[in-house]
Order: sequence, then structure tokens, then C-alpha cells
Amino acid sequence: MRLSDCYNVDDFRKLAKQKLPSPIFHYIDGGADDEVTLKRNTSSFDTCDLIPSVLTDVSNVDLSTTVLGQKIDFPLFLSPTAMHQMYHHDGETATARAAEKFGTFFSLSTMATTSIEEVSNIASGPKMFQLYIHKDQGLTDNLIERCKSSGFKAMCLTVDTIVAGNRERDHRTGFTTPPSLTLSSLLSFALHPAWSLHYLFGKKFSLANIAHMTNKGTSIEMSIMDYINQQFDMTMNWKHAEYAIKKWNGPFALKGIMSVEDAKKAIDIGASAIMISNHGGRQLDGSRAPFDQLQTIVDAVGDKIEVILDGGVRRGTHVLKALALGAKACSMGKAYLYALGAGGQPGVERLLSKMKDEIQRGMTLMGCRSVKELNKNKISFR
Ligand code: LAC
Repeated sequence: MRLSDCYNVDDFRKLAKQKLPSPIFHYIDGGADDEVTLKRNTSSFDTCDLIPSVLTDVSNVDLSTTVLGQKIDFPLFLSPTAMHQMYHHDGETATARAAEKFGTFFSLSTMATTSIEEVSNIASGPKMFQLYIHKDQGLTDNLIERCKSSGFKAMCLTVDTIVAGNRERDHRTGFTTPPSLTLSSLLSFALHPAWSLHYLFGKKFSLANIAHMTNKGTSIEMSIMDYINQQFDMTMNWKHAEYAIKKWNGPFALKGIMSVEDAKKAIDIGASAIMISNHGGRQLDGSRAPFDQLQTIVDAVGDKIEVILDGGVRRGTHVLKALALGAKACSMGKAYLYALGAGGQPGVERLLSKMKDEIQRGMTLMGCRSVKELNKNKISFR
């Protein structure tokens, strides 16, 4: 299978599975516990159907939307995800440049393998930084200041990862601290020499934004799950979020809001957006899928705060459905990591191009000339 054989997210996933050592592939692909939420994140889009309008002159279809203070060329962007260098040796350079080419947001994770400053030098498209609250308050301040000086447009705080989820695939593959790689995992590194040689002899792997302050995360052997459990501040509460919002003083999203009550609190503390998300099904298994919760949240707060749907998006029509229910934009994580693993920057570009085409074709067939025309009359629950 080659990149030119990839037409949809599932194809990119298959190619990534071929190209990556199994512990790495399963780290992207997996969820928590029984992965019920992971599966539901995508299947929930099938609970409703689009209702097209016809004879509307769709010779000009405008896909652009404005979110987090930024006009983007189409209503889908890259959600923050950790450690891109693990999936391809070009790491965040590949993903940030692909997002820039497609005129959409790139999000840099606190746990990125490329620094804030480097990313701002290599890609000039709109960038969001994703914050985790560490026990060391100085680290939060430092990250926010650096993003300001580096021209980042927006910030988000992940609020659903106070401890690491139970990702059993990582235990099975031995992707833990200390690593307890099984014979088959070890064999899979040997069978993926391109990946392994880059890891051994290429650019040194490090959590580039934080390693210098925590003395941690300078090797892949430090499991991310252990990092979370050791470094994140479990006392994190609304005051921390409010502090970060004030300090940033610009477009700010809380990522991982799932209830109406919390959405209202987000408004009270001055957030400009919420990302309805369950962290790609990687945290609390059995929690509700973002799409299942979208309408309730939009009905309650949609006129007061921007609502972004994060998770499970695999098709352009999924984005159309979310927008019809009132989301401003959607974001995706796993999908573009598959593409990154499958083919680096060209892989992510191919995925974005397919998704953009699907959104464009879908809107045309829906008779919608702009994202504003996607409204509740265009969708019905089964
Ligand atoms: C994860 C964290 C690091 O889900 O975002 O792996």
C-alpha cells in the first residue's frame, strides 16, 4: 500500500499500521479501557442524517469560517496531539506546514517534540498552543509568555487529563516506564528499520517545550502516561483556568468540556471557546461522545461562546453534521496522525486535501453556499 492508495482516514490508518512499529501505532490508535467511547465518537455521527436543499445555484461555495479570532479556509483544523516526531521524523514541522498550506489552524501540544519558537519559524499559518497545568506554576507562565512572543493566535487548556487514562494497548505492547517491550514489540522495531534508524541516529527525541524545566521527557522510554501522573497538577480547578485565560488575554478555548454546567462556567471565567471533547476516547471510557452532546450544549450556550467539536471526525459529512447542529468548526487528532505516520507532510497534505474536497462536495450536494447555511433545518435525528 502507498500514499497514493489512501482515499480516506481508514486507508491512512492502514498505511500507518504498516509503517510504524506496533507500540507506536497502538499508542495513536488506542483508547481507554474497552474503547467504547473511542468507537462511539465516530459512530455517533450516524445517529442523524443530512437533509439537502436543491436548485440553489452552488457554483460558488465558500467553506471558510471564523473561529478563535481567525478566519480559516475550511471548518476543520488540527487538534493538539503529543510528540509528532514519534510518528514521523519531520515531526511538527510536517504537520504545521501542511496546516499552513491548507489555511487552517495547527495546534502545538505542550508535549510536542518541536519548540514553540521553532514552529513559529517554520510555519506562519494560524497556530494555537495547548496548555497543560504542571505542578510548577512557572512552567505555565513561561509557556504562555513564549507563545505571545512567538505570534501564536490562540491558546487552549486541556481539562480532561488530570490523570492518565487506562490505555491497555500500551501495557500490552510494553509502551510503559520502564519499557517492558514484548518479543513481538521488539521484533516490530526491527521490522521497521526506517523508523528505528531515524529514532537512533536522527534528531534527538525530546519534549522540546518542557524538557529543560522538568528534566523529563528526553527519551521515548519515559512513558507519557507516567509523565502526566508525575508532573500534572491534580489540584487544577476553575481558578487555574481563569488565571491562564487572563494571562493569555486573547482567544482561549477550554478543551474537554462535556457538560452544559461546565460550558456555562467557561463563559463566566472569560473563555472564548469550548472544545467538546473526550480526548479521543483516551481518558474516561464510557463517557459521552462529543457529537451526542453537541446539540444540548449549543442550545444552552451556542450564542455566547464558540463551540468546537473535537473527536471522531472521519468524513467531510461529519463536519457538515456538526456545523448543522451549531458547531463553529471541528478538529481532529488521530486522523492526521495516521496520515503523518503514513507519509509525513505529504501524507497530512493528502488527508487535508481529501477532507477539504469532501466538505466542498458535501456542501455543494447539500445546496449550501456558505457554512452559515448549514443549520438545524438541514439535519434530522433518526
Ligand atoms: C495523550 C495525551 C498525551 O492522549 O494527550 O496521549
